[in-house]
Amino acid sequence: MPLPKCWWAGPAEYPNSRPETFRDPCIFVYLRSLHLRHFRNYRDQGITFDAPKTILVGENAQGKTNLLEAVELLATLRSRRASRDRELVYQEEHQAQIAATVERLGVAHELVMELRSSGRRSLKVDGHVLRRQADFLGQVNAVVFSSLDLELVRGAPEARRNWLDGVLLQLEPVYLGLVEQYRQILKQRNALLKQDPKDSVPLTQATAGDQLPQMAFWDAQLATTGSRIMRRRARLLQRLQPLAAHWHRVISGGRETLTLTYRPQVPLPDPQASPAVIQAQFLAEIRTKAAAEHSLGSSLVGPHRDEVELCINGVAARAYGSQGQQRTLVLALKLAELELIEQVVRDPPLLLLDDVLAELDLHRQNQLLEAIQERVQTLVTTTHLGSFDAGWLKAAQILQVQGGQLFPDKTGDGIP
Ligand SMILES: Nc1ncnc2c1ncn2[C@@H]1O[C@H](COP(=O)(O)OP(=O)(O)OP(=O)(O)O)[C@@H](O)[C@H]1O
Ligand SMILES: [Mg+2]
Repeated sequence: MPLPKCWWAGPAEYPNSRPETFRDPCIFVYLRSLHLRHFRNYRDQGITFDAPKTILVGENAQGKTNLLEAVELLATLRSRRASRDRELVYQEEHQAQIAATVERLGVAHELVMELRSSGRRSLKVDGHVLRRQADFLGQVNAVVFSSLDLELVRGAPEARRNWLDGVLLQLEPVYLGLVEQYRQILKQRNALLKQDPKDSVPLTQATAGDQLPQMAFWDAQLATTGSRIMRRRARLLQRLQPLAAHWHRVISGGRETLTLTYRPQVPLPDPQASPAVIQAQFLAEIRTKAAAEHSLGSSLVGPHRDEVELCINGVAARAYGSQGQQRTLVLALKLAELELIEQVVRDPPLLLLDDVLAELDLHRQNQLLEAIQERVQTLVTTTHLGSFDAGWLKAAQILQVQGGQLFPDKTGDGIP
């Protein structure tokens, strides 16, 4: 199913209601199989998923996270751990492949991603090589929840921006192009700010009849592309806010209120304002920071400096939240993300739980179980099955991960 172009189109098209709990199973997108060749520590390993829940159990450094990372790459084209494709390719090899069969409306589709230690990726859907990477997005959607996600609360603003971007990429594949364009513009503008000041005349100083100075050109580019990113992030947070607040209330037993607030560098009194209004504000903010930007040699205004404030009962969770509150918050954010993707795409995304389930107490495990029920295909990694709720173990497919290989776990105790 193609993704809607404008997913926030309005309440009539995408009602903000809770999804039905049980739906016709044939409409689900289902990751049926996965085949990894020379990917991370996997040489050549196939896997068929035959239950809605798969538990990957194994000791440290065996390849559990690597497998989830492969699925995350199919969903977002990004890995949170690797900055370059070279890291994803088996050490002695030059090329890796992730192949998957995804079932949608009962029809199987073949997805292939080829990664090279030097060179570009290639992406195929049903044997056709895609010209644009963005066309691959939306074939599989996934919500990843790992111990890294505590960074969402505790970490620097970049963690929260990356989270927003990861969700937006899945909801609206054109966002990939926007982010890439913005990155290039920022690079050029920063290079210019570091150059001789006579090349860097701010927009305000450009007089009629002047040849448009380079800096003014990059200011305008930054404002145009930056505003488009900001509007999307602002809308995303508006949609996530009620969902996250709902889950946070449920998990905290109604005692706490969560608020997510978008804090861009450019004041946005009305995120729904027209692009022209936001761009004008953006340029005005650049003018006020012009002197500082020139002396620092870097761009201080724009979505690359956005922040998202997470507050529990009006108090910043980053500084004051207890560990338990922070865990509850991250779980609420992840459930909100899952629910929003499900509302927009009309299919539940895959849920990838990397080493987090055992860290949740039984109450939170049950909240999660209840929220996802049978309709969300879930891959879970763990080093031991002991702390799992019986509900998780009952109908799950359990696989043992050992040195980049998978074995069926027959005993149910994690020992092959
Ligand atoms: N490009 C690569 N080529 C070969 N091996 C790799 C590559 N990248 C990572 N590895 C290996 O993969 C292993 C780590 O795998 P992974 O992160 O999936 O472990 P894990 O099973 O999730 O462990 P933990 O329980 O500690 O999280 C390490 O042994 C590492 O050396
Ligand atoms: Mg791991």
